[in-house]
Amino acid sequence: MTSITPASSSGRLGVLRRYQRYLPLTDSTPLITLGEGDTPLVRSRRLGPRLGCEELYFKLESCNPTGSFKDRGMVVAVAKALEDGAKAVLCASTGNTSASAAAYAAHAGLQAYVLVPRGNVAQGKLAQAVAHGARIVAVDGNFDDALRLARAITDKHPIPLVNSLNPHRIEGQKTAAFEIVDALGDAPDLLFIPVGNAGNITAYWKGFVEYFQAEQAGRKPRLMGFQAAGAAPIVRGEPVADPQTVATAIRVGNPASWAKAVAARDESGGRIDAVTDEQILEAYRLLAQEEGVFAEPASAAAVAGLLQVAAAGDAPSTGSGQALRDKTIVCVITGSGLKDPETAMSVEAQVTDVPPTVEAVEEALGLA
Ligand code: F0G
Repeated sequence: MTSITPASSSGRLGVLRRYQRYLPLTDSTPLITLGEGDTPLVRSRRLGPRLGCEELYFKLESCNPTGSFKDRGMVVAVAKALEDGAKAVLCASTGNTSASAAAYAAHAGLQAYVLVPRGNVAQGKLAQAVAHGARIVAVDGNFDDALRLARAITDKHPIPLVNSLNPHRIEGQKTAAFEIVDALGDAPDLLFIPVGNAGNITAYWKGFVEYFQAEQAGRKPRLMGFQAAGAAPIVRGEPVADPQTVATAIRVGNPASWAKAVAARDESGGRIDAVTDEQILEAYRLLAQEEGVFAEPASAAAVAGLLQVAAAGDAPSTGSGQALRDKTIVCVITGSGLKDPETAMSVEAQVTDVPPTVEAVEEALGLA
């Protein structure tokens, strides 16, 4: 294969090299990388033991180059766009896809065009798209409107759409499932994951199925997907015209991969449920303060879902207190808390201003 970028010197091969034989690459696919993939699987120190679950892990997709899981799929989509001679790529996004598209387009020497819902993208994500030189359009509408427009524009102009409707995105994102199996020695019992446009749950299922078929795993997990209650079309069974949630990344009313997500849920014997913004923010705080994991609110939805299942299992009426006990569980932390400083500061803004003296600092720290 030809290469326009050497593997990163950190020893990270990147998704294209590491999982070449599972990806739709050809001899002329440039093996670009920003060092995506190979993210940590961190064992829970407090939440898991508290739930009676010794094998609870967080898959830190926030450790990808642009701070979200999108990089795994974007590296494949942009490499294929390069292979096909594209000069630009385009996406609609609640923020992370646009940040990733902007970074990989810059790396590849392509122009990125991004359509975002006006006023509903976290600051850090917008800053990334700006920094990487994307041409940014804020649509007076929600994500679903932006995606409809993105499809119309890419139908009309020879520009690849790099949303998860692009099958190369799903191909790249499935590699996270491979990594989990490689790290644990088999698939977990349960995988908790937030659901927005529903590409990622689709990709994980594809990955787990392919690894099982390749005899790299002896089983497949049940997929436990979670939407925000104000943006839960799959749970409600109908599109949501005006989706609302603090977790702006999953503020999606009509997911593009709806049918595939439902198939993944049903084939895996799993569930797709909703959690409220209050539950999301509680899980967000708990992750940051009791696990040391700074996730963005959308990612906390998966952990809120885990807490919800645990609470239901403990309820005497259900009689299923063993729901999580002795299970191997992975929660996917899809994006970094640094993306959304507004939410962080609105939840815990405990900063004390002091004059520069030891006494004042001791006083402020409660050490006086
Ligand atoms: N978590 C984060 C941090 C996300 O950014 C997204 C989606 C999801 C979860 C849900 O994944 O859409 O595959 O079901 N963000 C998209 C974007 C919509 O435009 O960045 P999904």
